[in-house]
Amino acid sequence: MEYILIKKADVHEGKEVTIKGWLHNRRSSGKVLFLIIRDGSGYMQCVMSKNDVSPDVFEEANALTQESSLIISGTLRKDERAPGGYEMIASHLEIIQKAQPFPITKKEHGVDFLMDHRHLWLRSPRQRAALKVRSDIISICREFYEKHDFILIDSPILTPTVCEGSSTLFETEYFDSRAFLTQSGQLYLEPAIMAFGRTYCFGPTFRAEKTKTRRHLQEFWMLEPEVAFADLEDDIRLAEQSIEYIVQQALKRCQRELEVLGRDTSKLEKVKVPFPRLQYTEAIHMLQKKGSAIQWGEDFGAPDETLIAEGYDRPVIVHRFPLELKAFYMKTDPEDERLSLSVDIIAPEGYGEIIGGSQREDDHDILLEKIKKHNLSVESIQWYLDIRKYGSVPHSGFGMGLERVVAWVCGVSHLRETIPYPRMLYRLYP
Ligand code: 4AD
Ligand code: MG
Repeated sequence: MEYILIKKADVHEGKEVTIKGWLHNRRSSGKVLFLIIRDGSGYMQCVMSKNDVSPDVFEEANALTQESSLIISGTLRKDERAPGGYEMIASHLEIIQKAQPFPITKKEHGVDFLMDHRHLWLRSPRQRAALKVRSDIISICREFYEKHDFILIDSPILTPTVCEGSSTLFETEYFDSRAFLTQSGQLYLEPAIMAFGRTYCFGPTFRAEKTKTRRHLQEFWMLEPEVAFADLEDDIRLAEQSIEYIVQQALKRCQRELEVLGRDTSKLEKVKVPFPRLQYTEAIHMLQKKGSAIQWGEDFGAPDETLIAEGYDRPVIVHRFPLELKAFYMKTDPEDERLSLSVDIIAPEGYGEIIGGSQREDDHDILLEKIKKHNLSVESIQWYLDIRKYGSVPHSGFGMGLERVVAWVCGVSHLRETIPYPRMLYRLYP
């Protein structure tokens, strides 16, 4: 049977159409039933009068439970008050399945209960809105990098190497040897830029972080661009431009979803380049002035990031962190050998670090020293050193945490609502 998508109701005004979906809500005023149907693309109010259908159909409809699946036909008419601007005057109803009592109702549920029912919670309006924003942001990101002539290079999930420190590796058997779930695609992009110039990867990454915070997932998606002949300054510019584009496009495309989420969009409208910049050392002084006990050489905790971001209406760029704090592959600052050519971008409103990047060490011998200093196996990473032998060039890149950006754009406080099936310290179900 031909059917339409609710979001395209406008082109069918005045016509007889069919929609297929699930019952979201039902109200009755004795002789008239109001069925709110969700079809995935939107919500439609279907009005069924006792006079318009057989008594059997009316009785069945009147007994429908939330989430029952159905096919409903009728005439569409414009109604300013209806969600989406149209309602259906129903004339036919086919019930596919009458649903059992749905566990998630309008009453308040605890987070553990909702997370245990994530497979059902996905149907709730706020969850649908956040995941639709995620889907749109993924498209916007791909569009941005394609427009800027980047080639997509998919990095492997199973790897023999450490990228971001050995303490957060998920290890698995790999026949007679072992493998790790990737922490970042970066090491595989660096060789690829020597073939393509500008590349990016966008996929799941894994961190066995024994932390349980609202900003951490054990499996999260990272978008990583990598560029040949680019220094830290080029890297910072690309990062801020991409963030501006993502936020401004999301504001245009996700109006309805951001409304459902109750997001104050005026805050996002201010996200325009250039972003404010601080050197790490300046950030430490600022934190100390604000009363933090942090010392030079220490990494920012979540409260420090929030302190840095407050007072700014756009993301803050912090650059040149101490070498000791950062990964082995970062280039030393030629102007101060205690520092690395690194950058973090901290989102406003307490969403924390959304981007981490750097200029990479491009000298073979210095990189070899750095690998040894970090106690990494030279053997397993020989291929990465090779890149510094055959036409090495200055190059830079960064990683953007998708869920952190989605959480910030949506204004949801916990990352668990920004990914369909979150993997967390105490959660692998469903
Ligand atoms: O700062 P990170 O660890 O950088 C890297 O992995 C680099 N190799 C990326 C690169 O230069 N190509 O991670 C990058 C971003 C962080 O800024 C943060 O947004 C996100 O990934 N991230 C997490 N998001 C959710 N849960 C976690 N446990 C995350 N760890 C990092
Ligand atoms: Mg980082």
